[in-house]
Amino acid sequence: MTTLVLVAASGLAGETAAAAAGYDQIVAVDDDRGRWGTVVGGAKVIGPVEVVADTGADLVICTGSGRVRRMLVERLLDYGVTPDRFATIIHPDASVAAGCEVGPGSILLAGVRLTSQVSVGRHVVVMPNAVFTHDDIVADFATVCAGVALGGGVVVGEAAYLGMSSSVRQHVTIGADSVLGMGSVLLHDLPVGETWVGVPARPVRVAV
Ligand SMILES: CC(C)(COP(=O)(O)OP(=O)(O)OC[C@H]1O[C@@H](n2cnc3c(N)ncnc32)[C@H](O)[C@@H]1OP(=O)(O)O)[C@@H](O)C(=O)NCCC(=O)NCCS
Repeated sequence: MTTLVLVAASGLAGETAAAAAGYDQIVAVDDDRGRWGTVVGGAKVIGPVEVVADTGADLVICTGSGRVRRMLVERLLDYGVTPDRFATIIHPDASVAAGCEVGPGSILLAGVRLTSQVSVGRHVVVMPNAVFTHDDIVADFATVCAGVALGGGVVVGEAAYLGMSSSVRQHVTIGADSVLGMGSVLLHDLPVGETWVGVPARPVRVAV
């Protein structure tokens, strides 16, 4: 029997359950005791995160924040989980062209399109209808929200967050741990750790 464990009983977990094909059983884990015994996206929450360590089940981390995904990966590796247990979840209605690659632990929801020679790293979350075009590189733990459009040759840094319906001009680089606000249009490189918003996108000061 093949089992997928959704790590974090979030809204994204429900979406991931809907995207996952070919499993006999899907369950969830979460450190919030209040969620134990509840159901998310049809998956029963069976206990805290550490219960996955002793199972042979496939795992996928379902937090919206890439930084939290990174912390959870480190924690699971400390529990003795081996990296080969992280599943790649691609919705049947996503389109991944030949020559594109998607790393372990990554989630592509419905309608996502990877057009040509796109590289998506590990534990990346790509929400519905995002479009990555030729030669884009999306680093580990990045989060790309619904409807984002990347021109060709864009580089998205580790754990960067691209808000819904933002657009990125071709050959632009987005720094690690940066944020692009929803609806923004990015014309120039976004430095590491900064938040930019608007059309065209400019730096904005946000509460830490
Ligand atoms: C950019 C973002 C992270 C900033 O959030 P925040 O830190 O809470 O900042 P605030 O809402 O206090 O906004 C700070 C300023 O930026 C402006 N701003 C925030 N987001 C903006 C956006 N997307 N476009 C234009 N301006 C924006 C605000 O109006 C505010 O301006 P002011 O200081 O002149 O009033 C957030 O607005 C955003 O876009 N998040 C992405 C949401 C998303 O895609 N969700 C999908 C979930 S699946």
